[in-house]
Amino acid sequence: MAAADSFRIAPLSEVMAAEIVGLDVSRPLDGETFAAVNKAFLDHQVLCFRGQNLSPDGQIAFSRLFGQVIVHDNSRYALADHQEVLVLSNDVDENGEHIGVVDAGDIWHSDLQFKPRPAKCTILYALRNPSRGGATDFTNQYLAYERLPEAMRMRISGLRGVNSISKLKNSRAPISGERKGAREFYIRQERENPDVEHPLAQVHPETGRTSLYCSPRFTYRLAGLTDEEGDALLDELVRHSGKREFRYRHEWRDGDLLMWDNRCVNHRATGGYAYPDIRLIHRTTVLDRR
Ligand SMILES: [Fe+2]
Repeated sequence: MAAADSFRIAPLSEVMAAEIVGLDVSRPLDGETFAAVNKAFLDHQVLCFRGQNLSPDGQIAFSRLFGQVIVHDNSRYALADHQEVLVLSNDVDENGEHIGVVDAGDIWHSDLQFKPRPAKCTILYALRNPSRGGATDFTNQYLAYERLPEAMRMRISGLRGVNSISKLKNSRAPISGERKGAREFYIRQERENPDVEHPLAQVHPETGRTSLYCSPRFTYRLAGLTDEEGDALLDELVRHSGKREFRYRHEWRDGDLLMWDNRCVNHRATGGYAYPDIRLIHRTTVLDRR
């Protein structure tokens, strides 16, 4: 059993994210240690546990400490014997087929924002990183909210963003020209995931802090406003939410276990690597309680 005083918290930037040094999360955490990790998670929004050696079972067990772990919709790329673990990779098998999701998430977003019950946290375990590229960018949406002008905070109070999985109706989320069958894909996805509304100013259920909850990938209009008014306001909010002053860039090392709080953080993949430079990541996702 790991004791709470067995690790150290080292901030990774001025705006958010911290490294947890000296904790092996493959071993069961006692209640006190979990409470300390959870507090660090709520305080820093993004946590990185370096040098982990984690089996899929170990990752699922760690993830379950934070809540309900989902089986992803994209189950084609889940591990065959661990459906909760989604593979993110540009590697291919002996038949030349991709073994994981290749190019997800290059536009700022919060995971599962298009669901009535979005993701609480996403947990990525990096087994292998490309020799260059592959960084993940994060923005602190508490700060984004707090640094909005007072008049803007008043204006968005009570307003709701409409979120969709489909890129077809979202001009802020262009579809890659290389992607075949994208239109059919999104029509199908949209049928399974009707639009959902979430408050733009969202109060965090555990910290009580308010964050700006919208993203160019999923939020495509504002409920109750004309398109003209809503588009201009959403453009402004989306631009603000991605500002450099709210950002942390994570440069991955092999063995990193990284988790972030989707309730107050947006993120995006930055790409910049190509086969045969291989990335291999195991993802688990924990649902919000709402
Ligand atoms: Fe994501």
